[in-house]
Formats: sequence, structure tokens, C-alpha cells
Amino acid sequence: MTQDELKAMVGRAALEHVEAGQVVGVGTGSTVNHFIDALAGMKGRIPGAVSSSEASTARLKALGIPVFDCNAVGEIAVYIDGADEIDPRGHMIKGGGAALTREKIVAAQSRRFVCIADDSKRVDVLGRFPLPVEVIPMAAQRIVRQFAALGGKAELRLSGGAPLVTDNGQHILDVRGLRIGDPLAFESTVNQWPGVVTVGVFAHQKAQVCLLGTAQGVQTLRFD
Ligand code: 5RP
Repeated sequence: MTQDELKAMVGRAALEHVEAGQVVGVGTGSTVNHFIDALAGMKGRIPGAVSSSEASTARLKALGIPVFDCNAVGEIAVYIDGADEIDPRGHMIKGGGAALTREKIVAAQSRRFVCIADDSKRVDVLGRFPLPVEVIPMAAQRIVRQFAALGGKAELRLSGGAPLVTDNGQHILDVRGLRIGDPLAFESTVNQWPGVVTVGVFAHQKAQVCLLGTAQGVQTLRFD
């Protein structure tokens, strides 16, 4: 099976976690795109979705699924999103699609986080994937130096030769060379650096469930 077929398989499997009559939180990325496509078959049974990016909003709306602002809904029953890495406790690195800030906001408003990923995303310790960090542009080079002091090499993410601009009008640093053995402490520390909007470690908003796409089928990992 190709990686995309594994992603499609878990995207479809995530439908079982969507509660009829409840607004669903929707993440961002190629795995989530498969979920959104599958969700279209359920659209009469849910009021709609809260989305974590302009890209997911556009895809949801194109399929006729209403999209609500976070402020217009209360607690969200379930949030479905992908990950760049997931560790044995459900801590993740996210933000490969630059949507980490809104992803963390929707995850924080949700009762359960169901992560959908192909099995290449599973790691023992977070840090193999370059860690995305959304930053206020004027603070970027100071934050690069703060990561260097931790042994990380941070680089500004580019798009078409210019700094990538997120949905929030900010920039992304990608940090290589980190080994994140204590994700909870790491997330708390980096989040307090002035100019950091969001660090792409999701430990405080970890997954409760991961639907992992493997050649043998969907494996369900539970972390609570
Ligand atoms: C976007 C994300 C994605 O969930 C993550 O990058 C995984 O993407 P994909 O499903 O395309 O592999 O965090 O900001």
C-alpha cells in the first residue's frame, strides 16, 4: 500500500469517531483531506465543522459542509487531525502544513483528539521531524539563537523564495537536531519565549486516540 492509501484508510476510519448531531473539529493536511472527503457522506447528520486552516475551510465548504467560527460553538466533541510525529504516549509534532496555531486552538476546545496518521509517523522520541514553530517576524532571529543554545538549528520556512506567511500573518521556523525527551516541559518552556506564537509540540493537547494506517489495516492506539 502506498503512503497515500494508508492516509486514505485512516481518513475514512475516523468517521467512526464523529458523533452525529455534533460539530466536529477538523485539522489540516493530506491525511485530513481524505477525512474531509469522507465526511461529505455524513453531512446531513452533523451541523458542520470548525476548521483549523483556510485550506481545510475551503475544502469543507466546497463539499457543502458548513464551517463555524470557534467563538460560535462551545466545547467540540472530537477533533480529527494528522501529525508529523507521534510518540508512545500520544505526544505529537505538528505544523508541517503551517497550521499549528489554529490546530492547537481547536484541539484545546475539543474533548478528544483523534490523530490519524500512517505508520511512518510513529517515533520513540520526538525530534526526527524538523519542529515547526510559528513566530512573530521581528523575534525570529533571537528565537533562532535560543534554539541554537539548546542544540537546534532553526531555519525560516520559505515559500516561492520568500518567507512563508501563515493564515495568521506570521512566519514559521523549522528546527532540526532536537531530541524532545520531555515534551510537556519543552512545550511549556518554548511557549514562554517572547515572540513565539505556538510551538509545534502537542503534549498539553496530546491525542487520546491514534488511528494508525499500517499494511495490515488500521491499528487503534489509546493514550488515556
Ligand atoms: C499541518 C499538520 C499536519 O497534520 C501534519 O503536517 C501531517 O500532514 P499530512 O497529513 O499531510 O502528512 O500538522 O499543520
